Amino acid sequence: MNILVTGGLGFIGSFVVEKLLERGYAVTIIDNLAPQVHRSSHQPLTPANVKLLIGDIRDRGMMEQALTGVDVVIHCAAAVGVAQSLYQPYHYIDVNVAGTALLLELLLQRKQKLHKLILLSSMTEYGEGLYLRPSDDSLIRIEIRDSHHIQKHGWEPVCPYTGELITPVPIPEDAELLGKNIYALSKRYQEELTLSLAQLYAIPAVCLRLFNVYGPRQSLSNPYTGVLAIFLSRLLAEQPPIVFEDGNQTRDFVSVHDVCRAILLALDNPKADGQVFNIGSGEPRRIIECATTLTHLLGKDAIEPLANGEFRKGDIRHCTADIRKAQRVLNYQPQITWYDGLQELVQWAKTASSTDYFAQADAELRQHGLIQKF
Ligand SMILES: NC(=O)c1ccc[n+]([C@@H]2O[C@H](COP(=O)([O-])OP(=O)(O)OC[C@H]3O[C@@H](n4cnc5c(N)ncnc54)[C@H](O)[C@@H]3O)[C@@H](O)[C@H]2O)c1
Repeated sequence: MNILVTGGLGFIGSFVVEKLLERGYAVTIIDNLAPQVHRSSHQPLTPANVKLLIGDIRDRGMMEQALTGVDVVIHCAAAVGVAQSLYQPYHYIDVNVAGTALLLELLLQRKQKLHKLILLSSMTEYGEGLYLRPSDDSLIRIEIRDSHHIQKHGWEPVCPYTGELITPVPIPEDAELLGKNIYALSKRYQEELTLSLAQLYAIPAVCLRLFNVYGPRQSLSNPYTGVLAIFLSRLLAEQPPIVFEDGNQTRDFVSVHDVCRAILLALDNPKADGQVFNIGSGEPRRIIECATTLTHLLGKDAIEPLANGEFRKGDIRHCTADIRKAQRVLNYQPQITWYDGLQELVQWAKTASSTDYFAQADAELRQHGLIQKF
């Protein structure tokens, strides 16, 4: 089988490529070595036996070349970063939406039948997660908090009708997509373009909505995405991790190895075609605890993570994956425990190349009025 991995030099793509090679598949990578991701990292891993095209997924000629003879496409290339997308909307739409549209157009023009298209989409499409209203046990969705909400009710979301505190619960795939940041919208359009054309032209396509993926090789010099990697790059520079709000916001962290397993399960299973799956751990983790655990595991106990009481406009408070559909249809089961996953991440980070650019990203957010102090 010939498989194209777009963005195959990136964090998730590089692990996917290794797994495909282990299975004996022929692999092509197209990746433009986006400077923000690769700027101070080691030369990314490029296994000798892959066909490597250094180029942009928006380049028609390069993509025609990349798709030659390919049976499967795993589409990982993207501009990745929620807050940055709010002041670079054109770039995010161009790479993620136009790039995916070009990929699809070229797939439609080919004579060769495609065995599978797998798109890595994102939990950010949901916006705030799903909540339970204690007074009547009903499940509700809410808009993303604004500064007015936080001033009146504090950090935790409340029911807009009763004013009571609501409890976060895992969100299933059929929940309405309420994410409004440009990255979220771009991932949603990627998904909708893919599923719409796939249905029309009978292309076996699967969308995996990844939650917060973590593990070795996530860039330690990209301050725009990957909260654990950002904390690590701060700690390696002897700086305290900066935690927004009070630190009790939660995310669902999933190991990159579990994500790779999910991709292979989707590749092998025709029942997955035409569907969307949440790929997470199903477990919420408090961000302040992530920062303190990483600090401890790295042996930097003298440094104290700083919860700064600031709100990054557009940030959600809680979102955890309901993974029952992936368990049922794909037989997906997260296997890496949180502790083992963090240990692996920290061991890798100790020898990885890292530069702390947090101050630069932070200054950009402030310049655009996207941070508010409470
Ligand atoms: N990491 C996460 O937590 C997470 C969560 C949800 C979804 N995702 C999705 O998973 C995919 C992979 O993410 P990642 O974390 O590995 O990111 P990454 O930034 O490490 O990898 C993306 C790769 O794509 C390449 N790339 C970017 N723009 C390109 C372009 N125009 N042409 C060619 N190559 C380009 C980059 O050089 C990089 O190597 C993305 O689609 C992302 O939206 C990631």
